[in-house]
Amino acid sequence: MSDHGTPVVSALIGGRRQHTSARTIRSTNPAVTSSVVAEVRLDEAGALVDAARAARSAQSEWADVPPPVRGRVIANIGRLVEANAETLARLVTREIGKPLAEARGEVQEIIDTCEFFLGEGRRLYGQTVPSEMPDKQLFTFRNPVGPALIITAGNFPVAVPSWYIVPALLCGNTVVWKPALYSAACADAFAELITRGGLPDGVLNVVYADGPETSDGLESALAAGLVGKVGFTGSTEVGRAIGELCGRHLQTPCLELGGKNPMVVAADADLDLAAEGALFSGFGTAGQRCTSLGTVIVHETVHDAFLDRFTSLTAAATLGDPMADVLYGPLLDARFATSFEKYLGCVRDHHRPSGSTGIGRISAGNPRDGFIGDAAAGIYYHPVILDGVRPGDEVFDEETFGPLVGVTTYRHLDEALELANMPGYGLSSSIYTTDARTAFRFRRGISAGMVSVNNSTSGAEAHLPFGGNGRSGNGSRQSGRWVLDQFTRWQSLNWDFSGRLQKAQMDVATVEADLDFRLQE
Ligand code: UN1
Repeated sequence: MSDHGTPVVSALIGGRRQHTSARTIRSTNPAVTSSVVAEVRLDEAGALVDAARAARSAQSEWADVPPPVRGRVIANIGRLVEANAETLARLVTREIGKPLAEARGEVQEIIDTCEFFLGEGRRLYGQTVPSEMPDKQLFTFRNPVGPALIITAGNFPVAVPSWYIVPALLCGNTVVWKPALYSAACADAFAELITRGGLPDGVLNVVYADGPETSDGLESALAAGLVGKVGFTGSTEVGRAIGELCGRHLQTPCLELGGKNPMVVAADADLDLAAEGALFSGFGTAGQRCTSLGTVIVHETVHDAFLDRFTSLTAAATLGDPMADVLYGPLLDARFATSFEKYLGCVRDHHRPSGSTGIGRISAGNPRDGFIGDAAAGIYYHPVILDGVRPGDEVFDEETFGPLVGVTTYRHLDEALELANMPGYGLSSSIYTTDARTAFRFRRGISAGMVSVNNSTSGAEAHLPFGGNGRSGNGSRQSGRWVLDQFTRWQSLNWDFSGRLQKAQMDVATVEADLDFRLQE
């Protein structure tokens, strides 16, 4: 606690809290920006290197713990999160303004992830593979990659980190975690639950550094050979820089970047269902999920009927205090208001806005019907539906990371696919149709790593591969068994017990065959 009773969050390195850093920042509640959730002691690049060194020292001992025992630690973490679910969810809502129902869902996602991976401790299978020669056997083994350095965003301040940290630990890796500073209190609480699940000191280390210090620390830690894997969830721009840095050290990071996720509404779609899906994925978490809906691409024959439905649902939605039953609350943090305002400045004459009683920040002078709470106290924005967006518009081409959804039309599915792929992201996508052929043609043609049929772009389940292509990532996948390939490296073993040197390809038995043989009619 600080002198005025505010919790203080500081780095955890080698099992010890660090209290030396001089600089502090405040993490505030975006629904009531005058309320400080935590004071955060800021670390410098050197702390990240120290944390990586602590992780490296703890690495071999942790890798020696049998995987089923590591699975038991994961089970304990899941139990602890479950027992503290409500407190953790409330903290998430308080620190980043996500509505409580969504925050509870986020905490559930950690529990689901632990449930999946606790059993993986008893699998973590390798294979036995036949040899081409007698008295010889081939095998494969999964080896831990070594310390994992995980850098995460704050829109999912605990669930997305769990997608990295839980499988990384289960696979026998130690971890350095650098969470977003504006969700530091959530990170601190989650780290506490993780370590109390039975982790030895140094297996999980947490550092709170800003962007430039993180980048310097990462570079030094990579150069010193302390890091075996980098995981990053955040913007495309930063992901690109991390990818370049890792490439220089011959590392392939796990990158989960932005999205401009399209939703195609076909002429035969259930329009009520589609409008409901657009509302949830466009404006849930105030449009600040990586999986948030970017643009609705609706068949021209149902455009008006769809837009009417989508606009009425949006106009009728309750916004405001995230502790109440609202569609969405404030933006995550002031910095996102700045970037969102930039996109609001890109609204053009050919765009037809709808969905609210105003555009921009909600205030006494720019009110929103049905707002709950004190708009002036927080960082609240009107939802915006922009009909008539087209390629070349900033709001069509770029992720806006806020409550803004574009709408455009198409005539043929090929045109819909072209529009859907045009921004060059490739995270999530969705199509509403009642025709199986349209659904499967969409699946084949869309560049996204994730496809929903008659479901929105958000709401991935915790055991399907999660990840994107193009501007959304480098093809790495998280979740389920697929993430094991991020945190382990295959090792092959060939064991010759023939007692002689048998040369592959050269000493292999030949098979005589009569390949000129043909059946007679
Ligand atoms: C993210 O926004 O980084 O699919 C993750 C969803 C959530 C996870 C989103 N389960 O919307």
